[in-house]
Amino acid sequence: MTPSSPSDTAVRPAWADLPRPLRDGLAARLGEVRRAHVQTGGFTPGLAARLQLADGDQVFAKGIPADHALAGKYQAEARTALPDIAPAPRLRWDAVIGGWIVLVFDDVAGRHADLPPGSSDVARVVAMVGGLASVLTPCPAPKVPAAAAELSDMVHGWRELAASPPADLNGWARRNLDRLARTETAWLTAADGDTLLHGDINRSNLLVTDDEVYLVDWAQPVRGAPWLDLADLIPHLILAGHTPPAAEQAVAPAITATGVSAQTITSYAIAFAGYWSRTSRDPAPPDVPNLRKYQARAAHAALTWAAHRTRWS
Ligand SMILES: Nc1ncnc2c1ncn2[C@@H]1O[C@H](COP(=O)(O)OP(=O)(O)O)[C@@H](O)[C@H]1O
Ligand SMILES: [Mg+2]
Repeated sequence: MTPSSPSDTAVRPAWADLPRPLRDGLAARLGEVRRAHVQTGGFTPGLAARLQLADGDQVFAKGIPADHALAGKYQAEARTALPDIAPAPRLRWDAVIGGWIVLVFDDVAGRHADLPPGSSDVARVVAMVGGLASVLTPCPAPKVPAAAAELSDMVHGWRELAASPPADLNGWARRNLDRLARTETAWLTAADGDTLLHGDINRSNLLVTDDEVYLVDWAQPVRGAPWLDLADLIPHLILAGHTPPAAEQAVAPAITATGVSAQTITSYAIAFAGYWSRTSRDPAPPDVPNLRKYQARAAHAALTWAAHRTRWS
């Protein structure tokens, strides 16, 4: 597994290194923890572990100190009430234990989805994401921010890169910087809607079993239009080895069914390429050493997607 694979990216505390009050508090609620299998997927430096309990039960626990910069995401995930029929593990409870925000879920005995060309997971994942809107509209969770307002501050990058072009900027991007900067916001007018969206679809959040495909980590939900979660799959399919046309072909029927325009998707592809191109150049956040390398690979994938859609030379 390479460090830039989303299956092995997070640097997380070992069970034995967690503060004693946290472990004791968890044991007080769960009973003795016989075995803790720390999960390395994702990018958060928090606790993420599958726990085998003395009574034979198995749960998944995640948590972070309540004063950590990412604590708000864990609180948001605890609020993201999903209906039972959503393809996501059930949140059993959340609590503050020993100064940590802790969420305990049903355990999924699965693996991360495999997304390279030819993998049978691809159609299963597309079908699962394509079906989310039917169970998550109207938005069932409270206090979920509207997509356009929430994402306009985040999913972009070309205006900043055009203002001060980095020396190592990809040649295609450099040649097209001005029109990339002009086009990267057009999709926002089509982003709003009344569907609960996941907002962070990537391989590390897709768990596959023989019967089901689950979407985990509802920590940055937005309320918006269903095409957004589907479009997020495309750069991740490219990242996994699909050509841009093959990635689009895999997701196109589901995206078309949402009624979104081709121009909107093109603008979104540009914005995503800008987001990753910009953020991959930021300093690494504390305790997340693999994030920027992953974002640089993702930027490359999204750039090939944007170049394919625009046909700009
Ligand atoms: N309910 C679950 N059952 C089993 N494993 C899970 C479950 N939820 C998440 N995981 C695993 O733990 C990893 C990290 O969990 P996630 O909720 O994505 O946390 P983070 O916010 O740190 O990315 C995931 O990549 C997945 O492999
Ligand atoms: Mg995750």
